[in-house]
Amino acid sequence: MPLADMPELLAAHRAVGAFNFITLEVAEAIVAGAEAAGSGVILQLSQNAIAFHGGVGPAASAALRLAENARVPVVVHLDHATDEPLVDEALAVGIRSVMFDAAHLTDAENLERTAAVAARVHAAGAWIEAELGEIGGKGAHAPGVRTDVAEAVRFVEATGVDALAVAVGSEHAMRERSARLDEALIAELAAAVPVPLVLHGSSGVADAGIDGAVRAGMRKINIGTHLNTVLTAAVRDELDRDPDAIDPRRWLAPGRAAVAAEVQRLLGVVTGRDA
Ligand code: G3H
Ligand code: ZN
Repeated sequence: MPLADMPELLAAHRAVGAFNFITLEVAEAIVAGAEAAGSGVILQLSQNAIAFHGGVGPAASAALRLAENARVPVVVHLDHATDEPLVDEALAVGIRSVMFDAAHLTDAENLERTAAVAARVHAAGAWIEAELGEIGGKGAHAPGVRTDVAEAVRFVEATGVDALAVAVGSEHAMRERSARLDEALIAELAAAVPVPLVLHGSSGVADAGIDGAVRAGMRKINIGTHLNTVLTAAVRDELDRDPDAIDPRRWLAPGRAAVAAEVQRLLGVVTGRDA
């Protein structure tokens, strides 16, 4: 089906799973998992993953073609872009949804740069997410940082962004699903902020925490590290089982299948089957 539109995807589900991919096989697995779940999904390509591939073109093209060939709605999203020209490059290759991440700047600079980028993204007819209160694990802020409700409302009004990533207790790149989220704060933010809220670092949140966050008002659930864990464990098992394997298809296929199954399962948690 045609590349999905983020507002339509969000409107179709109580919350949407947004999964990061680095390799083609993981992007394939995310789409396969979403098709098996019968849910729309967001395929996320981060600035770091783009740097690994040496540019936005090849990885974005693969993701866009996968989205167009999918049997469920798929949005391709540029994730954690701190580099403003990269946002413009992504729009130029056909990505319609971006996260501009200026949360490492002072709040005043974050507001100014985000407003400028939001204007360009909207002029291109695309959708933009921004962040206020850096999610723990990506820089200067401590993991205990929390987004202030009044500041979040002012930030959204002043920048015109379409969604806001907020700090409510999650951290990026956790290997254990042990983060405890501040559901009362999520509910307060959801009631006050006029755009969808985004949970980053969801790999560190157990199923019950994800469900609680969605019930409290989170609408986009970002998961990256956990899929890397699942992929690598399956590949390691396969190489242990068959140490002579050299054809990458032999060990990538079980990894891809494991990721697809986990995406399908997680989408059940995120969407609650849209009950
Ligand atoms: O933007 C991407 C997400 O916040 C992923 O975080 O790797 O900790 O799940 P995670
Ligand atoms: Zn993130």
